[in-house]
Amino acid sequence: MITPVLMAGGSGTRLWPVSRKAFPKQFAALIGDETLFQASARRLSGAAFTAPVVMTNADFRFIVAEQLDQIGLEPGAIVIEPSGRNTAPAILAAALMVAAEDPQRLLLVAPSDHVIPDTAAFVRAVEAGTGPAREGRIVTFGITPDRPETGYGYLELAGQGEGPQPLARFVEKPDAARAAEMLAQGNFLWNAGIFLFSAQAMIDGFRAHAPHYIDPVQAALDGARTDIGFLRLARAPWDGLPDNSIDYAVMEKADNLTVVRFSDRWSDLGGWDAVWREMLGDGAQGDGVVADANSTAIDCHDVLLRSDSEDLQVVGIGLQDVMVVATSDAVLVADKSRAQDVRLAVTALKKKN
Ligand code: GDD
Ligand code: MG
Repeated sequence: MITPVLMAGGSGTRLWPVSRKAFPKQFAALIGDETLFQASARRLSGAAFTAPVVMTNADFRFIVAEQLDQIGLEPGAIVIEPSGRNTAPAILAAALMVAAEDPQRLLLVAPSDHVIPDTAAFVRAVEAGTGPAREGRIVTFGITPDRPETGYGYLELAGQGEGPQPLARFVEKPDAARAAEMLAQGNFLWNAGIFLFSAQAMIDGFRAHAPHYIDPVQAALDGARTDIGFLRLARAPWDGLPDNSIDYAVMEKADNLTVVRFSDRWSDLGGWDAVWREMLGDGAQGDGVVADANSTAIDCHDVLLRSDSEDLQVVGIGLQDVMVVATSDAVLVADKSRAQDVRLAVTALKKKN
C-alpha cells in the first residue's frame, strides 16, 4: 500500500480573483464540479492507497476536513504546520511520521492543485514506479515539455526507452536561456511535482543533503498535539526552520532519482491561460472562445469569459485575446499574454488597503 501525502498549504496568487489568501486555488472548483483538492484526493483513493495524509495550515484545516467529508473520504491525518516553511519540511514531517510505523512504507507526495483527467493512466504510472521506490529510489514523474517554462523543474534523462529510468540531473526553475537550451536538447522532461519514495529513502535524502531539518522537524512531531482530529505540529522548532522547497533541498542534490514518464494530460494550472486551455479541452465554442454558464461572448476570438457568481453576468463583444474572470466581489480583465502578471493584482490591492 502507498500512503498519499497531499500538499495543501500553498496560495495561488496568479489565479486571483477566484484564488484568495483565505481560500486558495486548490479549494476552488476551477475545472468541473469538484475542487482541485477533492479531485486530487479522489485520484489517490483507489485500492493501491491508504487513507491520505494532508499537510496544510491552521487557516485551511476546516476547509480540508469539510471538502474530504463532502466526497466521503476519511483522512489518515490532517497535519497542521504552524507556519509556511515550503515543501521540504512538510514532506520530511510526513516521512518521519510514517517511518515511526513502517520505514519501508511508500509515500506518494502530490500537490493538491493539479489537473490530471485520466486517473487510471496516473495510477498506472505510479504503479510503474513502485519497484524502484521499494529499492530506495526517489521516483519523479516526467511530463514532455512543449515550451521553455521557467516555473518548473527539469529532469535530464540518462537513457532512452519508456520504462522507469535513472535521472542524470534535476534542475529546478532554470532561467529563460537555460530552459530554452534544455527544451532544444530534447532529453529533458518537466518535473510534475509528484514524488514516490519509501519513508526511509526520504529521511536518508535529508540526512545526506539537508541534515539541519531532521532534529527540528522530529521535535515538531514529538511535541505535536491532537486538536479535534487535527495534528498540530509544535510551533517553536517549526518556526525556526529555513524556508525551502523539496526540489532545492533534496532533489537537485540527490543521486538516487528515477523518472517515470507520464504522457497523459497534466496541468498545474499555473495561470488563467492554463485554466483556459483546460476549459477549451472540455468543449469550446470554436475560435478559442471559452464562456461559462454565466457569460456570453458575441463576435469574440480567443477570449476567456468566466463568472463564478450566478449574480454577475459577463458579456464580451468584439474582444480578442482578453480574459475576464469575475467573482461576487472582484473582476479581473487582462490581456491574454499577461496571465503570469495576475499576481501583480494581489500586490497592488494589498498596497491600496
Ligand atoms: N503543506 C504545504 N506547506 N504545502 C505547500 C507549502 C507549504 O509550506 N508550500 C507549497 N505547498 C504546496 C502547494 O500548494 C502545491 O500544491 C505544492 O506544495 C507545490 O508547491 P508550489 O509552490 O506550487 O511549487 P511550484 O509549482 O513552484 O514547483 C513545484 O511544482 C512544479 C510542477 O507544478 C516543483 O516541484 C517544480 O519542480 C515542478 O515542476
Ligand atoms: Mg505549483
